[in-house]
Amino acid sequence: MARKFSEKKLVIASHNPGKVKEINDLLSPFGIDVVSAGELGLPEPIEDGDTFSANAELKARAAAKSAELPALADDSGLVVPVLDGDPGIYSARWANNPNGEDKDFDYAMHKIWQEIEAKGQNPEGQPAFFTCALSLCWPDGGNGPHIETLEGMVQGNLTFPPRGDQGFGYDPIFIPFGEQITFGEMEPTEKHFISHRAEAFDKLVNACFT
Ligand code: IMP
Repeated sequence: MARKFSEKKLVIASHNPGKVKEINDLLSPFGIDVVSAGELGLPEPIEDGDTFSANAELKARAAAKSAELPALADDSGLVVPVLDGDPGIYSARWANNPNGEDKDFDYAMHKIWQEIEAKGQNPEGQPAFFTCALSLCWPDGGNGPHIETLEGMVQGNLTFPPRGDQGFGYDPIFIPFGEQITFGEMEPTEKHFISHRAEAFDKLVNACFT
């Protein structure tokens, strides 16, 4: 039985404004006072886990400990099976352009296209999926912190060149199954309905918020 969330305040353990906005939108019906790790000036831990869940857990634990508040962390990324699962847990790092800036997703999306071509495969229509692990950590779990972790995913196909400026990260090259447009072209409310983060969030709500 998962622990129920009954507190009034929660830290979103992320420095990524795109994620903070999406998680804020998803939490808005619950009347919780939300503050981000960035706003609190919390340090960013090194993400050295080898799964999405391990990374979400280490981020949630670090933020809960520093802020002395419950903390919700997201670790997510785009998995491309033909690239042996890359960029996967390295999705953020793939956007570090050695000849430019970090968080350069035009560079990261182009790199995906190039790497698929280098394998002699067609980038257009390549199967891919987004995964999201959400971890909720209470700093005060009796014998230490208590943590609940849930995962969600959304399957789709890649398309090039990137289309749309609504989302963030790899959204402009990802068309979810059953749709004609990319996550980048989709209204945020529509993405929130079907995304990997929405699925993980629904599971978290069922486990901890209801
Ligand atoms: P991390 O979870 O902070 O390590 O970063 C994961 C990276 O995956 C983000 O910086 C995004 O680039 C990418 N990512 C995760 N979720 C999404 C999404 O919903 N849309 C587009 N890109 C995403």
